[in-house]
Amino acid sequence: MSNTVIESVISGVGSYLPENVVTNDDLAKRVDTSDEWIRSRSGIGQRYFAADEQGSSDLATEAARNALHQAGLKPRDIDLVIVATVTPDRTFPSTAVYVQRKLDIPRGIAFDVSAACAGFLYALNIAHDFIRTGQVKHALVIGAEKLSCFLDWEDRATCVLFGDGAGAVVLSGTDTPTADPPRGILATYLSADGRLADHLYADGGPSTTGTVGQVRMNGKEVFRNAVEQISNAVFEVTERAKVSRHEIDWFVPHQANIRIIQSCAKKLSLDESKVIVTIDQHANTSSASIPLALDAGIRDGRIKRGELLVFAALGGGLAWGSALVRY
Ligand code: UT7
Repeated sequence: MSNTVIESVISGVGSYLPENVVTNDDLAKRVDTSDEWIRSRSGIGQRYFAADEQGSSDLATEAARNALHQAGLKPRDIDLVIVATVTPDRTFPSTAVYVQRKLDIPRGIAFDVSAACAGFLYALNIAHDFIRTGQVKHALVIGAEKLSCFLDWEDRATCVLFGDGAGAVVLSGTDTPTADPPRGILATYLSADGRLADHLYADGGPSTTGTVGQVRMNGKEVFRNAVEQISNAVFEVTERAKVSRHEIDWFVPHQANIRIIQSCAKKLSLDESKVIVTIDQHANTSSASIPLALDAGIRDGRIKRGELLVFAALGGGLAWGSALVRY
């Protein structure tokens, strides 16, 4: 009997950033802040803001197009679209159905996932389950955010931290005999603790205020939890996959703060040369940040096929998670 299992592999990666680059100095013209403060406290140098007429589905569609191109697939090959976002085009229907429509995907399943900065990892895990149970062959997993639409420009502690963008992966099922070493998604881990929900949220919603709301954050608490839980999440997936942390080629973390990333790398004994950092360029793009960083690392030639990657994130919820992937 042949030893066949369905593996879900990343067959394509793509991203999209809007045209408008906003530097820290640009922000300092409208907010009481400075390039020095933003860089030293967060590592952010600039961010991209979407145009008024661009919704999250537009950013998502461009990222998905690029991921499909890299995978060598056509929209009609896709049977599942999941968009992780906290900034949907509309309260309903999902942003995913607009992506489906814009890409002319004729059939399949489409829905959004709301898990804030951990959203991409939640979506990846769900797509992985659809694939390994044989329900789906090719899935688009997208993180897309237009966070500029709900920043409070009176709150300098949050408005300088976020940016817009989208990243996407195509996850594909292969039922060939198990590769050696196994490839694709090797282990995932997700968690959330609603008792910590008030540390990071938007103070609006359709069933409460009837407004979108603005970002509210207890930065110190989120920081402390991020370092602890992101590190734990990486320990979890390496244990689940029975892989040593020394085998990790690239740590691709959520990009919220360079000090969080460095503290996690230290706790995990990962050399900084193995960490993909894009926060200086993109700022915090919530669910888009991991696929954006992944795409950046692939396009500049650092991340190569066959290498072992670990993704990890924490954000509003608080919700967090990780994934260990052989690319
Ligand atoms: O993606 C979701 C996850 N999000 C995160 O992981 C974010 C986690 N938290 C953080 O990254 C950090 O807590 C921040 C970057 C948000 C803040 O850094 P901090 O070292 O915790 O600074 P702080 O909030 O304690 O503020 C220090 C000082 C304060 O002044 P005083 O009270 O010491 O006089 C703030 O008023 O910095 C001041 N400050 C600013 N100054 C200039 C706060 N924001 C600004 C600003 N420009 N934009």
